[in-house]
Amino acid sequence: MPQYQAVKGARDIFPEESAQWKYVEGVIHTVASLYGFSEIRTPVFEYTELFQRGIGSTTDIVGKEMFSFLPDPNGRSITLRPEMTAGVMRAALQKNILSAAPVHKLYYIGELFRKERPQAGRQRQFSQFGAELLGVSTPAAVAEVITLMMQVFESLGLRNLRLRINSLGDSDDRFRYREALKTYFVPFHDRLDDSSKERLEKNPLRILDSKNPAIQEIVAGAPRLYDYLSVASVEDFEKVLYYLDERGITFEIDHRLVRGLDYYCHTAFEVTSSELGAQDAIGGGGRYDGLARELGSSSEVPASGFAAGMERVLLTMEKQGLFAALTPQGPVVYVVLQQAELADHGMQVAWRLRKAGIRTEIDLAARSMKAQMREANRMRASWALFIGSAEVTTGLYAFKNLVTSEQTTLSLEAVLETLHETASGELQK
Ligand code: HAM
Repeated sequence: MPQYQAVKGARDIFPEESAQWKYVEGVIHTVASLYGFSEIRTPVFEYTELFQRGIGSTTDIVGKEMFSFLPDPNGRSITLRPEMTAGVMRAALQKNILSAAPVHKLYYIGELFRKERPQAGRQRQFSQFGAELLGVSTPAAVAEVITLMMQVFESLGLRNLRLRINSLGDSDDRFRYREALKTYFVPFHDRLDDSSKERLEKNPLRILDSKNPAIQEIVAGAPRLYDYLSVASVEDFEKVLYYLDERGITFEIDHRLVRGLDYYCHTAFEVTSSELGAQDAIGGGGRYDGLARELGSSSEVPASGFAAGMERVLLTMEKQGLFAALTPQGPVVYVVLQQAELADHGMQVAWRLRKAGIRTEIDLAARSMKAQMREANRMRASWALFIGSAEVTTGLYAFKNLVTSEQTTLSLEAVLETLHETASGELQK
């Protein structure tokens, strides 16, 4: 085994796989633009307080999963971003973009870091794509965010996804519900595990999130948040569901869905894929009107958004055979050297073709002509252009169509003309 390995929970993406990533990213860019979302890129690290305030200090992410460090002994702690929403809101507030235009629709694709135990579909460095709609969080806005997410999944061809949705109400609703939860859990105190006991003190809603089967059994009888919602909160939620229904988006109401971040209010949702095993959440999000204030904004910024795990999207696509049609782009022309001494001339020709926008390959390892032809076929080159001593003197090259095996003799200008006129557009796609 080589001495150096990638850090546990981080992985390399080799060309075959990066072609899949590029394809998925292309679909994301296209669908996001259909909905009028523009791309934002924020730094990979932020001051630690941003996440403590934004995501919530009682959450697993802030409590135990952040990669934080002090850049210098007296400096402020910095954290590799564990999610994008807090950073996007920070950026919007910092640049004060909402004063120029009241609504901003932003999307992103980026790397994130969480100190979780690595397993299939769960990494310490992973990527998300997502969108944040800032400035308005009406049911129409929230439905737009969910619809955008589902259209990306649909455009990628993903099947068997389950969208679960819930309303977390407003802070008054949640206050009443928290009290009810406390009253419910107290008699079970002795049966609660340590983390649930701690959650009961600090944030009883988090207990609903427990993966422990013994706790889930107790949770099954707990009161439902839905029953503590105000009339206005119920109406808001019903309107979001109405839009989804209208658009033929299938969902299930899940009264236990609370999500692992503290900034949510009203609608929250999660999508799971049956293909994924234990780590089956492919994406999730919701409305977060309180985040801006939490980050020190003097006025409220109504907002909603979602994020989906790129690796989990790709894993699901792989399992559903959705990459089968994705063949790597081969060169259009393979420049074949009849003798190694002609390499300089060959390089010049290859450079001219590349400058003219033609994907071109040439052997850099002085291999035999037979080996070069084998390589051209392996790479599925469409044409071979031969460089022999006669070609160098006359400036006319043997040019072979590797699909039909037809061969002609042409000047380089005529080669370029042929490539641009014939199927070159198709070959270069
Ligand atoms: P989240 O549910 O923490 O939400 O993450 C969203 C998605 O990121 C998950 O559904 C999962 O697919 C992926 N993911 C999370 N952790 C890992 C990991 N360790 N390895 C691989 N994939 C992972 C958020 O991050 C919110 N910021 C979403 C949001 C945006 N809410 C509003 N706007």
